[in-house]
Amino acid sequence: MDKKVRIGVLGGYRGSSMINYCERAENAQVVAICDKNPEVLNTQKENLKDDNITFYDNFEDFIKHDMDAVVLANYANEHAPFAIKALKRGLHVFSEVLPCQTMKEAVELIETVEETGYIYAYGENYCYMPAPYEMKKLYRDGKIGEFEYGECEYIHNGEPIWPSITYGEKDHWRNNMYSTFYCTHSIGPMIHMTGLRPVSVIGFEGTQNERKLRVGAKSGLFAVEMVTLENGGIVKSIHGWLYKDSIWYSAYGSKGRMECGREADKNSGHIYKMYIDSDEYSGGYDTAKYETYEPKHGMEDKLDGFGHGGSDFYSMYHFIEKIRGNSEADTIDVYEALDMFLPGMFAYRSILKGNTPMEIPNLRDKKERDKWRNDTACTDPKVAGDMLLPTFSKGTPDIDDGVYAYVKKMWDEECKNKDSGYIAAAFSQGSKK
Ligand SMILES: NC(=O)c1ccc[n+]([C@@H]2O[C@H](COP(=O)([O-])OP(=O)(O)OC[C@H]3O[C@@H](n4cnc5c(N)ncnc54)[C@H](O)[C@@H]3O)[C@@H](O)[C@H]2O)c1
Repeated sequence: MDKKVRIGVLGGYRGSSMINYCERAENAQVVAICDKNPEVLNTQKENLKDDNITFYDNFEDFIKHDMDAVVLANYANEHAPFAIKALKRGLHVFSEVLPCQTMKEAVELIETVEETGYIYAYGENYCYMPAPYEMKKLYRDGKIGEFEYGECEYIHNGEPIWPSITYGEKDHWRNNMYSTFYCTHSIGPMIHMTGLRPVSVIGFEGTQNERKLRVGAKSGLFAVEMVTLENGGIVKSIHGWLYKDSIWYSAYGSKGRMECGREADKNSGHIYKMYIDSDEYSGGYDTAKYETYEPKHGMEDKLDGFGHGGSDFYSMYHFIEKIRGNSEADTIDVYEALDMFLPGMFAYRSILKGNTPMEIPNLRDKKERDKWRNDTACTDPKVAGDMLLPTFSKGTPDIDDGVYAYVKKMWDEECKNKDSGYIAAAFSQGSKK
């Protein structure tokens, strides 16, 4: 395909990053933007001033627009139904995290991708951060041998930004999610690195305390998943609201270890730097090689302004190149997306059963799907029916409406000055302006 790929974006808040990618890209252009929030839509109109873009306030009209692909940057628990509708209309799909919220949706999503044959790319951008992406390349080159153990962390104390991302809405998905739901920023890069399927998981949930309750978030504070992979390797994943942030990945194999820098040490290079300690062969203890360097992936000149260590650029770049038929395009398909997500979903089932180990279904196996077709268990009352789960293992907390009124007040204050703070940062992601 020589011409630019025509993209529609659903959700213009986080979607700003993908919109701005298209505005700058040589391989794509944004032709339609949809958001039900008039403020978001107007801000995009004003920022872009682009007559080639049509703006929609509803999905039904938006999806009929003449385009090649859609980016789904709507609510994290509502991606699957929109992905299914888009695929059935003949559009390629880039889905923000997370891929789905129930097993029923997981089966429907996989089967729709299989039936339609259109490209589904999961936007787990953390896989493309400089060091985690280098870890994938090194692992596939055999640098540390066979994977044995790994640790991954996505710790983000959400309290200071909660007004900017939940707007005081009591039932915002971020308030209603359970502790292990948002698991793919930690687990994702380990799956993309090793290519190994997770087969079982044990979940643990941080306690529920004032830090979450005072801003209306209803889950446990953080989550741990102990995941066993198909080769017997074990991954410890941790994510959630511990007080100090950390993004970190480490992998041990049969002949070495590799990891990125730790956020706690401001001189470590963080996700921009690799630390490798590996032998030439397993048992070759006198051949140890220590290497430390900042990996480059060849498009550094294009990353300026893109968030999450430039990974926001790469996830979109690979999606567009996949559509254009580039065989080098490295996207995350629907099976891999679920390999990243199901450990979190089943970790919560483990927590609800007193931390018992849970098998992770293999949805690549068509026979296994039937068992899950009607499983709507989740924390979203609109979808769960009689399978509604509590947001915390000891029960969904009853939070006073005054808490949400307080959060909304803070959000309203923030909206008075859109040119600075989180809102300005959100809309300018990927923008060179
Ligand atoms: N990968 C990352 O690093 C990263 C970072 C931030 C957010 N996200 C993801 O991006 C997505 C969006 O998050 P967000 O921070 O923008 O907040 P959000 O989920 O509150 O906002 C979603 C936007 O979509 C719009 N929307 C939702 N449903 C709609 C519908 N049916 N029709 C039209 N518009 C609709 C809303 O009005 C809102 O502007 C989530 O899936 C989140 O997980 C990912």
